[in-house]
Amino acid sequence: MVKISPSILSANFFNLEEDIRWVEQNNADWLHVDVMDGRFVPHITIGSQVVDAICSRSDLFLDVHLMIVEPDKHILDFYNAGADLITVHAEATNHLHRLLHRIKELGIKAGVALNPATSVKELEYVWDLLDLVLVMSVNPGYAGQKFIPAVIPKIKEISSIVAESKRNIELEVDGGINSTTAPEVVKAGASVLVMGSAIFNKKEEGIETIKKVKKLKKR
Ligand code: DX5
Ligand code: ZN
Repeated sequence: MVKISPSILSANFFNLEEDIRWVEQNNADWLHVDVMDGRFVPHITIGSQVVDAICSRSDLFLDVHLMIVEPDKHILDFYNAGADLITVHAEATNHLHRLLHRIKELGIKAGVALNPATSVKELEYVWDLLDLVLVMSVNPGYAGQKFIPAVIPKIKEISSIVAESKRNIELEVDGGINSTTAPEVVKAGASVLVMGSAIFNKKEEGIETIKKVKKLKKR
């Protein structure tokens, strides 16, 4: 079954606890934390202290998406804060292999995110270190953007590589996912869907969206 990772970027920051309890009760599998630094992407959002606070009060699997430059400087902070998975952008480091190695050495899961214009080739020599590939289906930086259909072939390509290699690697897709775009993304091979605005903007519809999307089957 496809996993749902609600992005708290679209949650109510004045009452994060209420929104996190709400997704816990509505069958979220993971919790997606969008960390932005005002450099890799324009805005500044959440840091490791917030991850620490969430970790101490929630059992959800913490899926930390680092949209920051020099991610190597911050890995340890997010590990200490309780991240279960740290995903770094291939475009944000010149030393992807070493960075993934460091994350794996800490005993947590490691992921690589690819911007819409970034090729799957970036992963060619790091497959052995990966627990997850995150395909960005919008350009990172904002919630509520429109899904970019041109990433569908990339999702299919990664899905085929993973299936052929028989590796245990999750394929997560992030950006513009809702009940309209999710079916095609899951059909292409996605195993984890990040959803921000589709879940938190209108709560009643959000519950229905989670239910609908969780029933989708991979190809
Ligand atoms: C975008 C973030 C996403 C974002 C998704 O840079 O990585 O996780 O919160 O938001 P929606 O689902 O609204 O596109
Ligand atoms: Zn994200």
